[in-house]
Amino acid sequence: MEIKNIMNTPRIAEVLKNPPMGEDISVQGWVRTRRDSGNLSFIELGDGSSLANLQIIAEPVLPNYTDEIKKLTVGCAIEAGGRLVASPAKGQDVELQASSIKVIGWAEPTTYPLQKKRHSFEFLRSITHLRPRTNALAAVARVRSALNFGIHDFFKQRGFYQVHTPIITTSDCEGAGEMFTVTALEPEQLKKETPYDRDFFGRRAGLTVSGQLQAEVYALAMGRVYTFGPTFRAENSNTSRHLAEFWMLEPEMAFCDLQCNMELAQTLIRNLIGRVLEDCAEDLVLFDRFVAKGVIQKLETVRDVDFVHMTYTEAIETLQASAGKKAFKFPVAWGIDMQAEHERFLCEEVAGRPVIVTNYPREIKPFYMRLDESGKTVAAMDVLVPGIGELVGGSQREERYAVLLDRMEAAGLDVDEYGWYLDLRRYGTVPHSGFGLGFERLVQLVTGMSNIRDVIAFPRTPGSAPC
Ligand code: 4AD
Ligand code: MG
Repeated sequence: MEIKNIMNTPRIAEVLKNPPMGEDISVQGWVRTRRDSGNLSFIELGDGSSLANLQIIAEPVLPNYTDEIKKLTVGCAIEAGGRLVASPAKGQDVELQASSIKVIGWAEPTTYPLQKKRHSFEFLRSITHLRPRTNALAAVARVRSALNFGIHDFFKQRGFYQVHTPIITTSDCEGAGEMFTVTALEPEQLKKETPYDRDFFGRRAGLTVSGQLQAEVYALAMGRVYTFGPTFRAENSNTSRHLAEFWMLEPEMAFCDLQCNMELAQTLIRNLIGRVLEDCAEDLVLFDRFVAKGVIQKLETVRDVDFVHMTYTEAIETLQASAGKKAFKFPVAWGIDMQAEHERFLCEEVAGRPVIVTNYPREIKPFYMRLDESGKTVAAMDVLVPGIGELVGGSQREERYAVLLDRMEAAGLDVDEYGWYLDLRRYGTVPHSGFGLGFERLVQLVTGMSNIRDVIAFPRTPGSAPC
């Protein structure tokens, strides 16, 4: 079958935004609905580029009107050519007066699971391969893509270079023992003692939990870098904000302390939100109406306000002082790793905006965070946001050789294996900082989608990896 070259077919979003009135155009997409009225057939055509569809009017004079056009159902793929004209009816400004409609692919009407009605997100998760054809999931994908481009623009404008850090690594950055092992051994060989000595890399390797340590290498050579890619955690958390495979954005800056780090995180988040408010206005209206009422106003607040700053100690005191008013499931005491309920309380009930918590106890944070003068806390910062809790985790890094060595030994790391990391402190060490932003959590914040499984195309969670 002959089809038009996509370079000669506009996207429906463009047609609706800058309609080439009176011109002959061709569009390709999937039928969202079709109805007959009078002796005309009305097709709503979508191509994934916008929430709004293009209305196509088919008249009985078309040669395949009875045999094909009248048999089109939801999900069929077509190519429609014709003249773009002003629409006389309400609901749309323009419509395509079809001069030809080519059926490219039929969709079995009796089994096609998506019909013109609202489906629950839970049901849609059972058809991951078809769900991007729904309004909401396509809107999520567009917002996600816009945020992705926004990130690269943001860093490019500020003199950063993108570094591609490895997916397979031998260092467990967070030291939490959540690394998936990568092995080429057969199950039998794995039963032997020290099996990884004979494995592909001659030592145990795994999927990265964070690109930070390698980003530090490049920050200490190029000043400002970022890595943005998939990260993996074999963490048995079945929550609405955890995935086993998620995307993390990690900037790393030399000559930058904790204050500078926090400023960058705040500027980045506000900048990205400002950008989607402009670029994805139509999609955000959908989320505001059908998914999370008031999300646009919440985003405008995040874009416009300064985040609240408090130390970990102040945060714990605030939570303890609220204990009478609010019953937390997890008890609050200095030294705890805050839970989502605590983080959300701080930004939703106390501050009414994002909160940056700093100077966490050294015991609950990884070895690389810079030790504060007290020796009890580290120069860490987490950015907490309403509805989610932790969006960003970062720190100033320990740049002092002797202190770092102590911390690594105390954490039980094999110091010989991290010789390269220590070298960065032996040769031209400088104060440096960085953070990791959970990309899916950012998409959740922007769309108001409550379950993280619905903001990534193919979610991986304990017991589930469809497609
Ligand atoms: O706080 P985390 O563990 O920090 C790091 O990995 C640092 N090495 C980052 C750095 O400084 N370069 O993770 C950073 C962020 C969290 O704040 C959270 O938003 C997200 O990554 N995150 C997850 N998102 C989805 N599913 C999970 N299982 C996540 N674990 C962390
Ligand atoms: Mg964290």
